[in-house]
Parts: sequence; C-alpha cells; structure tokens
Amino acid sequence: MHQAVGIIGSGYYVPERIVSNIDLENMLDTTDEWIWSRTGIRERRIAANNQVTSDLAVAAGQKALLDSGIEAGEIDLVIVATMTPDMPFPATACIIQKKLGLSKAVAFDLSAACSGFIYGVSVAQQYLQNGTYRTALVIGAEEMSRILDWKDRNTCVLFGDGAGAVVLQAGAKEREIISVHLGTDGSGCDLLKMTAGGSLLPASHETIDQRLHFLQMNGKEIYKYAAKAMAESTIIALNKIGLSPRDIDILIPHQANIRILEGLAERLKYPLSNVYVNISKYGNTSAASIPIALVEAEEAGMLKRDDIVLLTGFGAGFTWGTCVIKW
Ligand code: ACO
Repeated sequence: MHQAVGIIGSGYYVPERIVSNIDLENMLDTTDEWIWSRTGIRERRIAANNQVTSDLAVAAGQKALLDSGIEAGEIDLVIVATMTPDMPFPATACIIQKKLGLSKAVAFDLSAACSGFIYGVSVAQQYLQNGTYRTALVIGAEEMSRILDWKDRNTCVLFGDGAGAVVLQAGAKEREIISVHLGTDGSGCDLLKMTAGGSLLPASHETIDQRLHFLQMNGKEIYKYAAKAMAESTIIALNKIGLSPRDIDILIPHQANIRILEGLAERLKYPLSNVYVNISKYGNTSAASIPIALVEAEEAGMLKRDDIVLLTGFGAGFTWGTCVIKW
C-alpha cells in the first residue's frame, strides 16, 4: 500500500559573504552589464574559507528539523544531493549524520548535479511510500566556488554557494508530493563536467597545470537543451495526475539563467510572473537552488494551502526532473 508523503519542514542557509558583479569586474575581464543581461545574476554568496559543504547543509538541515518539530533521533534517512562534497569519500551525508546527531539515520550522497534535489526527493519518496522508512531529510548543498576556475569568465560568474533542506514524512497529507518525473541523457555528459580527480584522471601535476580540477562547460549547448527538457518533464509530471501547466499556482525552477527560465515559461505558455526567480541574489547554486527558492517562496507567503507547486530542474549528465506538490 502506497502511503502519502509530504513535506513537514524546510529550511535554507546561504553564506554571509556577498560577491557582486562589480567585485568580479575588478578580478576579471567582465562587466556587470554583460553578466546581468545574459544571466539575470547581480551577486552570489561565497562560503568562508573555513566553511565546508557539510556546514552549509547542517545549517539548512537544522532549520528544516526545527520547522518540522521532529527530533534528530527520529530521522530514518538522510540524502544529500551535491557535486561538491566535503571530500570524495566518505559521503557528506555521513558527515552531516554525525554533525546533526541523526543517530539512527541511514545516510548517503546522490550525484545528479543541479537536478540532485529533485532526484533526492524522488528516492526518499519511494522509501517512505513503501513503508521502509517513516521520516527523511533531503538536502541540496553546494560550494560551487570551490570547483570554479576564477580565471574563466565563461563559468565563474554563473555560480554560487548555499544549501536547502526538507523533512519528508510518510502519512503527511499536507504539502503532499503528488507526482514526480525524472529524465537522463548521458549523451550530454561531456558538456558540463569536472574531468580530473576520478579514476579517469587521478590528481597529478599535469591535471593541475591543465586546470582540469575545475568545472568546464559548453554553455550554448546546455542553454538549448535545458528549457526544452524542463518543459517536457513538467508536462509529463502534470499529465500523470491529469493536470496541465494552467493548473500550476507557482513554478519554482532550478535557477540557472533567467533566459532559460523565460524559455521554459514560453514553452509552457505559462506567465513568467508566476515563476519564482531569485537568481539575481544567488546565481546558480546547483542542487541547492530549488530548495532555497522553495523555502524563500514559502517564507514570503507565496505558497497557500492546496496550491499546486511545481519544482523542475536540469543539470549535468544531462539529468532533469520535476516534482509536483499539493501545498
Ligand atoms: N563577461 C564578458 N564577456 C563574456 C563573459 C563574461 N563573464 N563570458 C563570456 N563572455 C564572452 C565570450 O567570450 C564571447 O566572446 P567572443 O564572442 O569574443 O568569443 C561572448 O561573451 C559571447 O559568449 P557566448 O558564449 O556566445 O554567450 P551566450 O550569449 O551564449 O551566453 C551563457 C553565455 C550565459 C553561459 C549562456 O550560454 C548560458 O546561460 N548557458 C547555460 C549555461 C548554464 O546555465 N549552465 C549552468 C549549469 S547547467 C544548469 O544549471 C541548467
């Protein structure tokens, strides 16, 4: 018997340090006008030197736990979506399990880049629906600043750091997850990647000299694919439950680029005014962007009981996915 699964708490955290486009003008051959007009980004948050990804995740997780009223010891499962873990292993989820005192939780990381939070919610939903676990903490957390080539103006201006988290519980009928769709196309795997540091190219003097431990991206190709994939996924997730884009009260997409979001709204014939956009403040925070936006929208009083809230994202892999919530 499938049980209802709903969000019973949420929280986000962004580092204090703000790096504006003007600050970047002083470091790179770029301008505020170029970044703003091409991406919709004005500034981003950058973690302090002594702050690691698990610290951001713990801050967001603590807020989500507090919001849910759940004790740390009641969490059965922790999934951390990240492509910037504290270290390749152990999983950042295990480090968070220890830091938050989630004594009985099973913990693992999930690698699906910017779609990671949607993938994480989907995995947790399965465990909760089928009765394996009762309560899960799903966190999207990233320190993109640590894998950016700060000499590459094509990429470093786009990203930022942050974390967002939700507590999901079986049997919770409010804020219920009513449909999920995931997609993958591995033919896109060369278009956004960090080449070195794995079995293909273990760290060496050469990999460092060639700057292969940084994110590399073909922005134009991603741009073409992203809006189409998110739009198709949105339609599939809605069709499964007999809904259409007209039924969405608020659309909360992954915040990659304002022009991708405009393209998404256009494809769905959906008003951009109902799309939640905070990219100007944070840039692209990868797996953290959707939960940060979700919590901000809720805190702003934009999510009402019974609203259809749609989350959709796209990222490296390629991966993409959509989650529909009845608030
Ligand atoms: N400042 C000034 N000039 C720049 C900068 C910069 N920061 N970056 C690139 N340029 C230059 C380029 O060098 C190029 O100059 P050239 O013509 O002399 O060679 C010129 O600007 C135009 O570059 P384009 O790549 O054609 O710019 P485009 O209009 O395609 O915009 C962008 C680039 C913003 C990266 C766009 O392709 C994009 O948004 N792609 C999506 C990428 C993305 O969002 N990735 C995130 C990860 S995936 C995800 O989260 C969905």
